[in-house]
Amino acid sequence: MVQTICICGGGTMGSGIAQAAAQHGIDTILFDVQPAALEKAQAGIEKNLQLLADKQKITAADHQQIRNRIRYVGNISECRAEVIIEAIVEKLAAKTSLLNQLAEVNDKHTILATNTSSLSVTDIAREVAHPGRVIGMHFFNPATIMKLVEVVQTTYTHEQTTQRIVALARQMGKTPVLCKDAPGFIVNHVARPYYLESLKLVEMGISNYETIDRLLEATGFKMGPFRLMDLIGNDINYAVSCQVYEALGKPERLKPSPLQKEKVATGALGRKTGNGYYVYTAKQ
Ligand code: NAI
Repeated sequence: MVQTICICGGGTMGSGIAQAAAQHGIDTILFDVQPAALEKAQAGIEKNLQLLADKQKITAADHQQIRNRIRYVGNISECRAEVIIEAIVEKLAAKTSLLNQLAEVNDKHTILATNTSSLSVTDIAREVAHPGRVIGMHFFNPATIMKLVEVVQTTYTHEQTTQRIVALARQMGKTPVLCKDAPGFIVNHVARPYYLESLKLVEMGISNYETIDRLLEATGFKMGPFRLMDLIGNDINYAVSCQVYEALGKPERLKPSPLQKEKVATGALGRKTGNGYYVYTAKQ
């Protein structure tokens, strides 16, 4: 069983992963370089826990213990744990630089997992000392609720690393699914047409966001494509589209959407910025 975990990046994903780990009894360090991001993460986690306590999904004692299990840190020298999961900005150089710094403050047995959704885990592992302990641990948004975790193995990944991460995912109440490193892994490969074809319908003037969302939700999808892209973040979703498109040899059917590119360029990233395809108030 994993006793100590460190999550790097306290944004949408990192704060959710940290909360999920703490709720499952793991001592959790949450690291971010931006003090404002750490404050926001702490406020968000505390609000979520209070809601769970109000709904009596956790006891008052649990509530206090979970809060006490999370340490919010802004200094990388405090990022020492058995497993580290990075969920920082989706840039290869930033991720490899961070993982190398983490390798220096930890011993070679510390597992370095990445929550990347669009970068090659192999490219990340190649740049890090002892790449056999590097692995993809791809959570889904919101990480406190979504059960699926893709465990992404590279050709470097040691079997022991995989086994420990599969066990950690189960310890966190998740359903781990193994896959080899490939563009989009499984889910983001399969789901590309869901987003891209919907964006094309709007670009061609055939339909609009609300209608497409309503229709797909009525057929059984939990969230329509536009509400889902706003939840994920248009920057993240667009980066995945570009990566999958490039990596698969630029097939026309997977061409990234100009409409989504524009959303990213204008900062309309979705819920996290308050607007995307829809406008969000603080309460939503
Ligand atoms: P975000 O933009 O909400 O948060 C990123 C956080 O990382 C920010 O708080 C930022 O201050 C921090 N950060 C940046 N550089 C850092 C560094 N060097 N050290 C420590 N902290 C640093 O991003 P989000 O959406 O949480 O995505 C994070 C990762 O998770 C990305 O790799 C993304 O591809 C992946 N992911 C995102 C999903 C989503 O639905 N948003 C789903 C699954 C994976």
